[in-house]
Amino acid sequence: MSIDEQTLQQKDRDFVWHPYTQMHDYAQRDLLLVDRAEGLMLYDSKGRGYFDTISSWWCVVHGHGHPVIKKYVREQLDRLGHVILAGISHESAILLAEKLIKITPPKLTKVFYSDNGSTTCEVAVKMSLQYWRHCGQPQRQGLVALERGYHGDTIGAMSLGGVPEFHQAFAHLMFPSHRVPPPYCYRCPAGMPEEVRSVAASAATTADAATETDPGSLPCDCRCLAPFEELLIREGERIAAFILEPRIMGAGGLIVYPAQWLRRAAELARRYQVHLIFDEVATGFGRTGTMFALESAGVSPDFLCLSKGLTNGTLPMAVTVTTNEIYQAFYAEYNEDKTFFHGHTFSGNPLAAAAALGSLEVFEQEQTMAGLPAKISHLDRCLERFRDLPWVGDLRRLGMIAALELVEDKKTRQPFAPAKRVGWHIFLAGLKEGLLLRPMGNVTYLWLPLSATGEEISEICNRMWRVLSNSAIINPGGRR
Ligand SMILES: Cc1ncc(COP(=O)(O)O)c(C=O)c1O
Repeated sequence: MSIDEQTLQQKDRDFVWHPYTQMHDYAQRDLLLVDRAEGLMLYDSKGRGYFDTISSWWCVVHGHGHPVIKKYVREQLDRLGHVILAGISHESAILLAEKLIKITPPKLTKVFYSDNGSTTCEVAVKMSLQYWRHCGQPQRQGLVALERGYHGDTIGAMSLGGVPEFHQAFAHLMFPSHRVPPPYCYRCPAGMPEEVRSVAASAATTADAATETDPGSLPCDCRCLAPFEELLIREGERIAAFILEPRIMGAGGLIVYPAQWLRRAAELARRYQVHLIFDEVATGFGRTGTMFALESAGVSPDFLCLSKGLTNGTLPMAVTVTTNEIYQAFYAEYNEDKTFFHGHTFSGNPLAAAAALGSLEVFEQEQTMAGLPAKISHLDRCLERFRDLPWVGDLRRLGMIAALELVEDKKTRQPFAPAKRVGWHIFLAGLKEGLLLRPMGNVTYLWLPLSATGEEISEICNRMWRVLSNSAIINPGGRR
């Protein structure tokens, strides 16, 4: 670093307002100032390393600073840094779209570029609503989303979110939409008895597509879908689309749910001709053990929203991938007024597109997906001992994502009170161990880059054990 650390810390306090951060927490405390990164490690200016166990907000797939991705971006920078994408094109956007169509479900044939996870979801919603207008069903304006779902922080995305902690202050701004219960097996919304609930919970965490290609039915029969079905019976003809995060609801609490639920939900939506919007902004690009989480349930949406891992976190980019049927409903003489009037300054930015091409190249060169099952099994073995901790209420895992829901009382599942700030104390203790852990509320999680080696996974879990097994950190003074 060319400027000394203390000067930078002070300038940060003076000039920067950080996202999802109570700045008062840093009035007396320095924040982690990252100087450089390589592989799984973030390094501060003193050269101290921290395992990036959250893939830098769920973006990094192949590790930081991958040479192939750097090469793609450098070469692109020498040719073309930016160009408008409205009615103009460039090689990287074209080649990337072609590659994405090859790796997404066959029904998806068109790529619409944008630049972040919130907008890719909003694009899908707008396309769905406009599609129904073009197809003579303008009454289909309703939207359905899950309680505890998360699709971003713009007003449109918030309107479809279900995490009150984040968005309730803006409730008056949001457009109305329907909410249905989430498949939160640990806290079963249908109130299933323990022996039934636990079968679903274990199906949620073990049914990776790699190990189970034809998930059977669950003893609970996905009873939590009943309100969705009732809504469809009542209002199906007025509903345009159902938006959800396949297999893992991320920001709503790392809720891992069974493939069977996803299949059943998709079948219901189809029965009532409701569009399916799969928000794989977080789960896309291998994180759940398959390239896309939807593969584990063998379902294909009308819209697939991708971002984060698309560029390995190198540059901002998002895509909404959709079907020919949707595309054709907009394809007409200009005067028919069917154009999709939506775009962003950085839609399809060439540098971001090059980074994404580089990332897809790494998937091929390193056969990343083929190496995952062994890593995932190893992660499972490393996590097993955490189950016995008195405050680990639930341990859920899918692919390279693992979550530990910490509770005050294991029997009653009573959560720790927010005022205890368990997550904050874990975050601070993690830093001391050289780990970037960033719990969400009472849920501590690993969202590991696919490039993590067996040794790195072991080391991360050992360090996390030292944090989570320490009652002075998690539950000082015991129950209150
Ligand atoms: C599933 C999901 N959708 C959408 C978003 C919003 O993405 P962005 O922060 O890029 O707007 C996120 C961000 O975490 C996400 O996890």
